[in-house]
Amino acid sequence: MDKRFHNKKILISAGPTYEPIDPVRFIGNRSSGKMGYALALKLAEEGAQIILISGPVSLSISHPNITRINVETAEQMYDACCTYFSSDIHIGIFAAAVADYTPKDVSSSKIKKQDGELTITLVKTKDILLEMGKRKQENQILVGFALETDNEIENARNKCSKKNLDFIVLNSLKDEGAGFAHDTNKISIINKYNKISTFELKDKAQVALDIIDYLNDYIHV
Ligand code: CTP
Repeated sequence: MDKRFHNKKILISAGPTYEPIDPVRFIGNRSSGKMGYALALKLAEEGAQIILISGPVSLSISHPNITRINVETAEQMYDACCTYFSSDIHIGIFAAAVADYTPKDVSSSKIKKQDGELTITLVKTKDILLEMGKRKQENQILVGFALETDNEIENARNKCSKKNLDFIVLNSLKDEGAGFAHDTNKISIINKYNKISTFELKDKAQVALDIIDYLNDYIHV
């Protein structure tokens, strides 16, 4: 295999975040991390040095070019991305499904069942990719992901420009076989010039290859 990404340093965020409610409970999401991990492995095989910032997943990954940093919460992922997205990173790929809200207060002991309703107040987390978009320098490339159910293209386009991305990978939940709980995915890629590329439903490892080919073309135009 030719090493198209030899000497490239790439930061990838992957997986969900878990936001604690008390010592035994959390708010999470259904992200498996498969997409981010597939990208990390393929890019490492093509010569890139990878920093993989991973939320809690049941996947393992082993390659000499991959350094994995494990985090749990959105705040920890934010801190890790701020630390590792330095000026020597060439490409940032943000595939993590970061919680948008986290419990305002975390109980230090297990919350006991009581009569009536339980209300948990949630506060907004920091948008990691928005922050990386602000820090991005001209020679750096930023890639985001979007999972949409409505007004997909318009919402993805807005995220691409708001977060200062080079391109965004759109997963549509309307597509049969695509999204969190599947081994297959159907994506479209929208770049900052508003060009849309569509792809067939494929195995996630194959989707990773499509994204990598797109990335390779993008950096060589
Ligand atoms: N993202 C991030 N930090 C957050 C939220 C999202 O880095 N706190 C990144 C994701 O990794 C993804 C992109 O932003 O690459 C879009 O995430 P998404 O959840 O689709 O969008 P949001 O900006 O959270 O908008 P909304 O939830 O309103 O769709």
